[in-house]
Parts: sequence; C-alpha cells; structure tokens
Amino acid sequence: MGLKVIIETKRLLLREMDTGDFDALYQILSDPVIMQHYPAPFDEDKVKRWISWNLDNYEKYGFGLWAVVLKGTGEFIGDCGITMQNIDGEMLPEIGYHIQKMYWRRGFAKEAAGAVMDWAFLNTGYNTLYSYMKYTNTASYSTAISVGMKKVKEYPDPVNTVSYACAVTRQDWQEMEKHTSF
Ligand SMILES: CC(C)(COP(=O)(O)OP(=O)(O)OC[C@H]1O[C@@H](n2cnc3c(N)ncnc32)[C@H](O)[C@@H]1OP(=O)(O)O)[C@@H](O)C(=O)NCCC(=O)NCCS
Repeated sequence: MGLKVIIETKRLLLREMDTGDFDALYQILSDPVIMQHYPAPFDEDKVKRWISWNLDNYEKYGFGLWAVVLKGTGEFIGDCGITMQNIDGEMLPEIGYHIQKMYWRRGFAKEAAGAVMDWAFLNTGYNTLYSYMKYTNTASYSTAISVGMKKVKEYPDPVNTVSYACAVTRQDWQEMEKHTSF
C-alpha cells in the first residue's frame, strides 16, 4: 500500500511517514551532529514516539511532519511539515525540518519548507506561520529566512536558553513572486 503523498516539488516528495520509516528517521534524529542544538539526540523510544505523534497529528489536524524523500529514488532524507508548537506561551503552527547531514547545503530544506508554507496557506486558515529555533541554530534560522520569514521575537526558553521566532504572514506570502513555484 502506497503512503499518501502530500506535496511534490522539483526534487522531492513529501509523504506521510509511518512506522516503516523508523530506521531512516532514527539515523537522523539520533545523530549528535544533526541534533547538536537539541538537549540530546533522540533514543529509539523517542523516535517511535515522534512517529506516533505525527500519525496522531495527521488524524487530528490533517497535517504533521511529513517524510521528505528524493523523488528519483524514494530515499528518506528527512522530515518537514507543520506542527502546533508552544512559542513563548502560545500554541502556534510551526514549520519544522530535519535533513540528513550528507544532504545539507543543497537547498533541500528550503525546497521542502517553502512548499510546506505554500501548502499551509492554501489548505489551512492560518494567517501566520512560524518557525522557532535555538539562537545558536544558524542553519535553521537561515532556512526560515530563505523562505521569506522574518525574525519577530527573541525570548527566553527553558529548553533553548534563548529562542528566536520567525514568521511569515499570508499577506507577505501573497506578495512573494515565487509562491507555489517550489
Ligand atoms: C536546518 C537544516 C534542515 C537545513 O537544511 P539544508 O537542506 O542544509 O538547508 P538548505 O540547503 O535548504 O539551506 C537553506 C538556507 O539556509 C542556509 N544555510 C543552511 N545551512 C546553513 C549553515 N550551517 N550556516 C549558514 N547558513 C546555512 C542556506 O545557505 C540557505 O540560504 P540561501 O537560500 O539564502 O542560500 C539542516 O541544517 C538540519 O537538518 N539541521 C539539524 C536539524 C535542526 O536543527 N532542525 C531545526 C530544528 S529548529
């Protein structure tokens, strides 16, 4: 049975993840370099809970973090999508992403996150979308900026010490020339 494809971009498919993705996802989320801005890399149990959290999110909201796979081969290279996150005390729709490190700096996060942003403005009623990250996470911050977000807040965060929140409004998005072209 094929897994549901949500988004197609030039090089990627974003499809629903499932328990069969455990090994590939574990390779990413247990890697100390990839997870350097998190309190700790994930163990097996945490990765299993990550998958079930996303399956629940698909049911509850119609979105979650999706598997990012290379269109040509189906190789699982990361996750990207929307989840509800507590950003300085408010539950807000957040675009998140993790990419396997051998694929960093090739524009995959930008391609996935830009397409997720388009999807969210086209398929949900949210008028602002966020990404937040630890203040040291330059790659995550640069990815948010690269899809048209702006830093809207710096705030103390018990996990991250200091977090940056970036956001894009529906109006900003409508004014972007390139929307829906990912
Ligand atoms: C954040 C992450 C997903 C970016 O993935 P990526 O595929 O390498 O990103 P891209 O190649 O699409 O780059 C997107 C933009 O960020 C910039 N960028 C990416 N990594 C960067 C880095 N280490 N330093 C500075 N800029 C960086 C790119 O230059 C690009 O900007 P541009 O379009 O203006 O040139 C990846 O670094 C990652 O998986 N990090 C670990 C997991 C993580 O921390 N996720 C976020 C949690 S908040």
